Order: sequence, then C-alpha cells, then structure tokens
Amino acid sequence: MGCQMNRLDSELVVSSLRAAGHEMVADSREAEVVLFNTCSVRRQAENKVYSRLGAEAQRRAAGKRVVVGVLGCMAQREGEELMRKYCVDLVCAPGQLDSLPAMIQQAAAGANAVKLDPSRKQPRDEGADERLEQLDLGRDAAATPSPVQAYVRVSRGCDKFCSYCIVPFVRGSEISREPAHILEEVRRLVDAGRSELTLLGQTVNSYRWQDNGAKVRFSDLLAMLSPLAGLRRLRFVTSHPLDFGDDILQAMRDLPNLCRYIHVPAQSGSDAMLAKMNRKYTRAQYDDLIDRARAIVPGVVLAGDFIVGFPGETEDDHTASRELIRRSGYKNSFIFKYSPRPGTAAAKTLVDDVTVSVKRFRNNDLLAVQNEVGLAHHQSYIGQTIEVLVEGPSPRTSKQPTPAVPGQAQLMGRSRGDHGVVFDGPASLAHQYVEVQITGATALTLFGRTC
Ligand code: 5AD
Ligand code: SF4
Repeated sequence: MGCQMNRLDSELVVSSLRAAGHEMVADSREAEVVLFNTCSVRRQAENKVYSRLGAEAQRRAAGKRVVVGVLGCMAQREGEELMRKYCVDLVCAPGQLDSLPAMIQQAAAGANAVKLDPSRKQPRDEGADERLEQLDLGRDAAATPSPVQAYVRVSRGCDKFCSYCIVPFVRGSEISREPAHILEEVRRLVDAGRSELTLLGQTVNSYRWQDNGAKVRFSDLLAMLSPLAGLRRLRFVTSHPLDFGDDILQAMRDLPNLCRYIHVPAQSGSDAMLAKMNRKYTRAQYDDLIDRARAIVPGVVLAGDFIVGFPGETEDDHTASRELIRRSGYKNSFIFKYSPRPGTAAAKTLVDDVTVSVKRFRNNDLLAVQNEVGLAHHQSYIGQTIEVLVEGPSPRTSKQPTPAVPGQAQLMGRSRGDHGVVFDGPASLAHQYVEVQITGATALTLFGRTC
C-alpha cells in the first residue's frame, strides 16, 4: 500500500524472501505468511489495513495457521500495539526489512517478532544502515515487476517536518545513498533490460552526498547516471520546491534521456497555510519555481499535490489554491483532505476545525479546477506524435470502446511526460517503445493511434 517507496520495498522484500526459500501464492487465502506493507500518511490508508487484518483474524478463527505481519510505516507508528489489538505476529519497521526472513522463522515458531527503528533522537544500531543498504544493492535486477521499468532509491527518510506529515517520524532522518552504489545498481538494472528508471526519494531533489570534500548534488547524480548506454528514460519523484535549483532544471534541459516531468507538491496556494504547514517556502517562491521550470525546460510537464481543509483554512486560502492550480497548469494533481496524524506538530497544536463537508466540497472543487486545467493540458497534444512506453492492456476504466479488430487490444502506456496514453495495437507491443499520434484527450488521458 502507499507510495512508490513502498512498492520498491515490497519488491525487495519479495526478492529477499524468495532467496530465503519462500514462494508467492496466487491467492492470498492459501498463504501461510501474509505480510502487509503499510502506509500511515492518512487515516484512510490505515483503515484499509485494519479491515484486512480483520479478515485475517477470521481465517485464523476458522482454524487456518497463518503468520500475519505488518511492515512499513504503520508498523513503526503503532509498534507492538498492533499485536495487542489485532491478530498480528510480526511487526517490522521500514528500516528493518533486511531482518524479515529471520523474523518470519521466529513468528512461525510461535514467538512474536518485533523490530522497530529507534526514534529519531536515538542512534541507529551499529551496521543497521549497511545491512539495509545491502537490500537495495543486492537486489535481483531481473526480478523487477516490469521487465522494462524499475525504481531506484536515492535517499531514505525525510528531514523537512511539514507539520501535517508522519513520514519524518516513521521513515526517519534523511540519508542519501552513496553515488557509487546507486550507479552500480542502475548499471545492473540497465544491463538486465530495465530502460526506464525512476529515482525515488521522499524529497528526491534534496539528495546530497559528501565524501572527503567531494560533493555530489542531485544534478550531479543525474549527470552521472544519464550517459549509461541502454538507459532510455530517467525520471525522479517526488521533489520538494525548496530544493529545486536551476542546476536540476538545466540537467533536465541538457540530458536527453532525463524526462521533462516534475512532480512538485505545492500543498496550498496560500502563504498563511504554507507557513502553518511548515513548508518553508512562500507562494511567490513556488510561482518562481514554476516560471523557472517553464523558462529553462521547454515542454516541461508538471504535477502537484494539494491538501484541503488544513486547520484554519479560509475561503480565501482555498481560492489561492484554486488559482495556483490554474497558474501552474498541472498535468494532474493529487488532492487530499487533511487527516490529522498523531504525533505530528499539526495534530498536537492545531485544531482540525474544517468540517468534513467543507473538506469534501473543497476537495471536489479543486478536482474540478484541476480537471479543466488537465483537459486543456492534454488537448494541447492533439495532432502531435509522441513516444510511448507500452505498459500493457489498458485498464477497463478507459472511456474508449474496445476495438473489434481481431488480434488488436486496447493498450495503455506512458509518455516521457508521464501522460497515460491509450491506443489500439497488438498485445505483443507490451514493454516496447512506440510512436503514437495523439487524436483525442480527456482530463487524465491521451488517446491515439500508432503511426
Ligand atoms: N493529511 C492529508 N494529506 C497528507 N499528505 C501528507 N500528509 C497528509 C495528511 N496528514 C499528502 C501530501 C503529500 C502526499 C504524499 O500526501 O499532499 O504530498
Ligand atoms: Fe512529508 Fe513534507 Fe517530508 Fe514530503 S517533504 S515526506 S510532505 S514531511
């Protein structure tokens, strides 16, 4: 569940458990070990896990022997409490995933297995970072879920402490990985045919490595990775506006395989909210970043995140967010209702005073503005021919009718700018790069035909 970082963690866990002799089953009801890799960023994400844990409790009540484990952010946030409240045998924090094979053995033998990360103020165990690093570095490059796409972590944790956010507490201090390790991992993935790589960090662009006086900034890392033969597309998510210097924008302009797509959450268009959120930038600074991006990187595609109903948010604050969406011209925005997270500064010091119905209204309102902006953005591609990496058959939610031509399927892929592109073609095009002429658009999708 949750973000791309979790998806990568899940992949590495699967890889390490396979190496330890476990197998995946197609139907989780047949599993002897069920692991949930969880997200704590909003209450709703946690509720999903509680209901899945309820289902596991029923299986157990029916006599099935099964080890149930909670991994990731909820494991760290709730700790042993999960064992007291639910039928959980194993609790493993994001920074302890390397211990999982041993923990499963322990839990299968009937002993509860708990591994939590020390709090931010306490030192980490000797060697813990190196062991965790080995999970990434030792990954099986041929075992990624897609044969052409892969995630690569460049940093762990977050030091920004946005007042609403649980991440700095559950994923710990920000640590950048050694450039040589990242390069080696990228090289192995590219050698294994992974030609589109996405670099991951909670604030990926604040990557910074220092060794014997040599400094490697994020833009330096991009320049180091970009020339690898066989790397057709290099992407990165998610960026923090404060750390987006012109050096990164220039890299996006100059490095041909670096995709011109920036996911740079604003969270709000209002200075009062930004200050209360501890985002450390003003609206003017954010506007300036968007202007610099558009000036330096021709054709850059932008995506944002917004939180509606943050404590004290007025109609004027909300209007400022509406205006920001229009001004930025995002391809898409992820819009969330504020959800107080226990332990964060906002939950401790601010009253969650925007009603559920106002949050819902503002959420829909920003979505409506984003839909207009997104539609205009997508329509501007009509008539153009763009490169699409085909991911596979299109999900059924697509608005286009299924083609009647035998041997043809409705396919879905991604452009370099992260647009979802739907078109008809043979299923054999999956995982290939194809040129698609764009013939239509909705607020979220481009439609086209192969040339
Ligand atoms: N409530 C609502 N949304 C949140 N996000 C992070 N914390 C919260 C919260 N407490 C959103 C932010 C962030 C995205 C990953 O989730 O918009 O960018
Ligand atoms: Fe959370 Fe802010 Fe860090 Fe993003 S930058 S993970 S929103 S604290």
